[in-house]
Amino acid sequence: MPESLLQISGLDAYYGKSHVLQDVKLAVNHGELVLVVGRNGMGKTTLLRSILAFPPVKRRGSIVFEGCETSRMTTHRVAALGLGYVPQGRLLFPSLTVEEHLRFAASRSRGQEKAWTLKSVYDLFPELQQRSQVGGGRLSGGEQQMLAVARALVTNPTLLLMDEPSEGLSVQVIQRVKDVCRHLTSSGMAILLVEQNLDMALNLADRAYVFLNGQVVYEESGEEFRADRKRVRA
Ligand SMILES: Nc1ncnc2c1ncn2[C@@H]1O[C@H](COP(=O)(O)OP(=O)(O)OP(=O)(O)O)[C@@H](O)[C@H]1O
Ligand SMILES: [Mg+2]
Repeated sequence: MPESLLQISGLDAYYGKSHVLQDVKLAVNHGELVLVVGRNGMGKTTLLRSILAFPPVKRRGSIVFEGCETSRMTTHRVAALGLGYVPQGRLLFPSLTVEEHLRFAASRSRGQEKAWTLKSVYDLFPELQQRSQVGGGRLSGGEQQMLAVARALVTNPTLLLMDEPSEGLSVQVIQRVKDVCRHLTSSGMAILLVEQNLDMALNLADRAYVFLNGQVVYEESGEEFRADRKRVRA
């Protein structure tokens, strides 16, 4: 069986003495969209921060990405292996323009084949090209989210970590983000998507993990997950 792109096992994560993630086991295979759901404060963002080795999270356990054990690596080295991050709340620089955000991120792009360039992200998000000289603080919520995705893409990741990309967006923009996720996975990128908006995420998922109090309580295929949700709604 081919090795998973990302394989996490026995992961515990802490903020100081606060034990947030407990014995998490999770995998993402090549080209898959894996959904992580759970209510507020269940540890979803902490999971992504643990994968990226972001301080102040302290981790114990194994996180293997592309065959490489990353649990002792710095954020910089982990990201350079091919992980892109679209953080919750976008986290843009208010005074940097759209283009400056993208140029800075593109300068950290990896590998020889740079499929994602400024030109290709502008093709994907023509709105961003029109707003290329506008500061991050003056963009609409939808434009900010597109920029956050574009900024991650120009680093040419093999796995994109997305944290609640639909938060605070209109139905039209959410549909746009959804279409982009589909486009990316059909072109071979894997996505680990944290999302509370199930209307957005339900049809996208190849597999899903449900988090409760820092633990995985269900792991389901996309079909099982969709069937369960329909039952809950019925
Ligand atoms: N920097 C931090 N320092 C200490 N505790 C933190 C920190 N960040 C998060 N926590 C705590 O860790 C737990 C998990 O938080 P986390 O942000 O991972 O949850 P989440 O599932 O992403 O929630 P949300 O849906 O609100 O984004 C919560 O109890 C939270 O209060
Ligand atoms: Mg969160």
